[in-house]
Amino acid sequence: MFDPVELQSKLSRADPGYYTLETCSEIARKLDRVVDLKRERNAVLLAHNYQRPEIFEVANFTGDSLGLALQAAEVEDAEVIIFCGVHFMAETAKVVSPSRKVILPNLQAGCSLADTADADDLTERIEELRREYSDLGVVCYVNTTAAVKALCDACCTSANAVDVIRAMPNRNILYVPDKNMAAYAASQLPEKNIIPWDGYCYVHHEIQPEAIQRIQATNPDIKVLVHPECRDDVIRLADAALSTSGMVNYARSSEADRFLAVTECGLSDLLAIQVPDKRFYRACKICRYMKMITLEDVITSLERLEPEITLPEEVARGAERAIRRMFELTASDRMPSSLMSID
Ligand code: 13P
Ligand code: SF4
Repeated sequence: MFDPVELQSKLSRADPGYYTLETCSEIARKLDRVVDLKRERNAVLLAHNYQRPEIFEVANFTGDSLGLALQAAEVEDAEVIIFCGVHFMAETAKVVSPSRKVILPNLQAGCSLADTADADDLTERIEELRREYSDLGVVCYVNTTAAVKALCDACCTSANAVDVIRAMPNRNILYVPDKNMAAYAASQLPEKNIIPWDGYCYVHHEIQPEAIQRIQATNPDIKVLVHPECRDDVIRLADAALSTSGMVNYARSSEADRFLAVTECGLSDLLAIQVPDKRFYRACKICRYMKMITLEDVITSLERLEPEITLPEEVARGAERAIRRMFELTASDRMPSSLMSID
């Protein structure tokens, strides 16, 4: 049973104005219901680091895109995966864990970055570029639909994009769909010709360098952690460019005690809750998609076991190949066994 007082003392570290005792009493009641339903349905709940703080309370695993893909592939006992994140992440969970029912509690939770790359447009662009570059390799960020992944040679996440592109045998690489990450990877890999797709994340692209410089001016020792979906004039101000879980690990293990996480605001909430002995400043924006899933949605989805994510067999196989290649090119020791056995 969740205790509203304990819940309030924890969650109010993220937002004291919102997490009042009254709100936390209501949240505690819903969390108890989720715990019962998870048991009844034999379900695990995976949550992305940007989700609402109350969702973390019932998550079996919280992480970045790479961590969530690994966890989804390693689910053993559960029959159902309740995926609290956005649509492309739930698709990835289905690709790597095809025998489980994967539920996205709110189907409106999409991703404007993934929406910038359409499979037909990508097919055309690949054909056009192959006429110019005979060795063209195509790498797609995990923030793409499964249909787009199926057209790519390898997938990557913010945690391993530079390593995946470096390990590709091709010099000429089409990187889909984030032009900011393409520019960041190009700055790290001068030996590659990285051709960007013209997409960006509306959340990260809006963050301005002045927001960081203002905080740095009064906190010269602050460690600035920037997500690689940010623009290059923002990444240049960073002590480290990291995935969301990379930021959490950095803040936990660093000797510094002040940090600025430059990404979606959910990460600042998570850091305030999970690393209470350190101080976190904010230069963040909210992703409307990541905040769409509520505890009510989770309860309804567990009661009805929908909306379910399904994929055409051919698309799933193509996407699985690109995801498997990511593990082969980087951390093969972390290759989930479920991917090893699939051809
Ligand atoms: P991470 O994989 O770093 O968590 O990023 C996912 C994402 O959507 C960032 O906007
Ligand atoms: Fe997509 Fe940007 Fe939201 Fe991440 S923060 S889910 S990239 S829209």
